[in-house]
Amino acid sequence: MSDLYAVFGNPVAHSKSPLIHTAFAAASGQDLTYQARLAPLDGFSRAVAEFVAAGGKGANVTVPFKEEAFRLCTRLSERAARAGAVNTLAFSGGEIFGDNTDGAGLVRDITDNLGLPLHGKRILLLGAGGAARGVIAPLLAEKPAALLIANRSAEKAALLASAFADLAPVESGSFGETEGQSFDVLINATAASLSGASLPLPAGVFAPACLAYDMMYGQGDTPFLRQAAAQGAAHLADGLGMLVEQAAEAFLVWRGQRPATANLLAELRAGPAA
Ligand code: ATR
Repeated sequence: MSDLYAVFGNPVAHSKSPLIHTAFAAASGQDLTYQARLAPLDGFSRAVAEFVAAGGKGANVTVPFKEEAFRLCTRLSERAARAGAVNTLAFSGGEIFGDNTDGAGLVRDITDNLGLPLHGKRILLLGAGGAARGVIAPLLAEKPAALLIANRSAEKAALLASAFADLAPVESGSFGETEGQSFDVLINATAASLSGASLPLPAGVFAPACLAYDMMYGQGDTPFLRQAAAQGAAHLADGLGMLVEQAAEAFLVWRGQRPATANLLAELRAGPAA
């Protein structure tokens, strides 16, 4: 019988994780089955318990269960503890191990796939919710020259920055407070693109050779990426590469082997016919 994995979310039907992990398994000759499982909003832990009882070896967790998954774990990786959220679970002998591969996926997409080192760069992280929190420690591990968190609510940005202050200096402020500064890498971790909104960023935050990265992906350019292009940003990227790389990192956690990602990412970029 092949090893059983799943992604839990609500909604979950749109998830590309089954396709991605099935492709990784085929390419690396590993025998596993990967399903999308819809968990009721008030029934995540029960759904996980049923999955473990059915022999599930590991799972990914997506919206809105990442914080609940964090609380369910009996052991956490350092990066999951820092993120306060878990996107990868591994089950063995009654233990629930939780990891968070989102930040590693983002960093790998930027440094490897896009070929843009983060070391010594000035990074502006937009947003102060769970998505932003999950990527801060891995970004700091790349030793940027500066990391500033800007958010609609500056108080939330300040709280988040202080939670990571033991790792490196992290600045914070409102969008308006970035006036007069420019950044090499701007990462949109707000939910603004979901609602088609752009961010009130001062002109000049996009340094000419900068990378504008939207953690969202989907239908064409997001409002943030259109905004960045209009301000002359040299490199634009959506979150599809991060999605594939966080999955590769989860696959590594479960199977001890990192799958190649380039071909799959190219196929996904080519569209639904792939
Ligand atoms: P997630 O887990 O996706 O980060 P979240 O914790 O609800 O979700 O956080 C959403 C983030 O998007 C927050 O930083 C939020 O800003 P506030 O903290 O000020 O609410 C941000 N956000 C959502 N809609 C936005 C919009 N239209 N413009 C700017 N920021 C927005």
